[in-house]
Amino acid sequence: MEIVIVDSADAAGTVVADIFEHAVHSGSRTLGLATGSSPLSVYRELARRHREDGLSFAGVQAFLLDEYVGLPEGHPESYAQVIRTELVNHLDLDAARVFSPDCTAPDPFAAAAAYDRAIASNGPVDVQLLGIGGNGHIGFNEPTSSLNSRTRVKTLTEQTRTDNARFFESPDEVPRHVITQGLGTICEANHLVMIATGEHKAAAIAAAVEGPLAAVCPASVLQLHPHATVVIDDAAASQLR
Ligand code: F6R
Repeated sequence: MEIVIVDSADAAGTVVADIFEHAVHSGSRTLGLATGSSPLSVYRELARRHREDGLSFAGVQAFLLDEYVGLPEGHPESYAQVIRTELVNHLDLDAARVFSPDCTAPDPFAAAAAYDRAIASNGPVDVQLLGIGGNGHIGFNEPTSSLNSRTRVKTLTEQTRTDNARFFESPDEVPRHVITQGLGTICEANHLVMIATGEHKAAAIAAAVEGPLAAVCPASVLQLHPHATVVIDDAAASQLR
């Protein structure tokens, strides 16, 4: 595992944007996207490079990690909508080729399995961007998720619902269920790139990078991956030995 420590969130975004730019220039055509706050500096930088330097995502397809169950299509906090607002609308990435789990399907369990099959048949993902939850989750694989898990319906922990309440008008509006790529699914990507900044991520980063490989810290599965890069700022690195 490669650990890159920089001095600010913006610098972390630049390092990850460099990885994405290099991948696209080298012919990568399938990207894996994350939502939440952590990737925003990356997305801002990619949008700037598209606008000012002509970085092109034409011909690229993308798969999201996860989606809330129970939000109507087009809800501003659905991850499909967030990724449109934060990234796709600012690039020449074809919106019709940005895929996410269909959480409005009558049978979310079948929709999860279908999404897993879609990634397998259209992938592999070349570069998968990841954030990390304060409890060590990646995607929405909460602690004790099987390290081999596939895309499925999961129940959010109360900690994650509380952490994500900042995006909603009231904490009660945070959905209880999601469809998330499984840890096994995520690990099929060729290159995993995690970004984390801030003191509140320090314990999770230490557990993921230096703790035992264990389902109680789902992000520790990166230790098994042949090509994983963790990009963090000094604060998120502060509990590393
Ligand atoms: C979101 C996702 C989550 C977040 C994690 C960290 O698509 O997969 O694992 O990356 O909850 O969220 P932030 O970046 O908001 O702290």
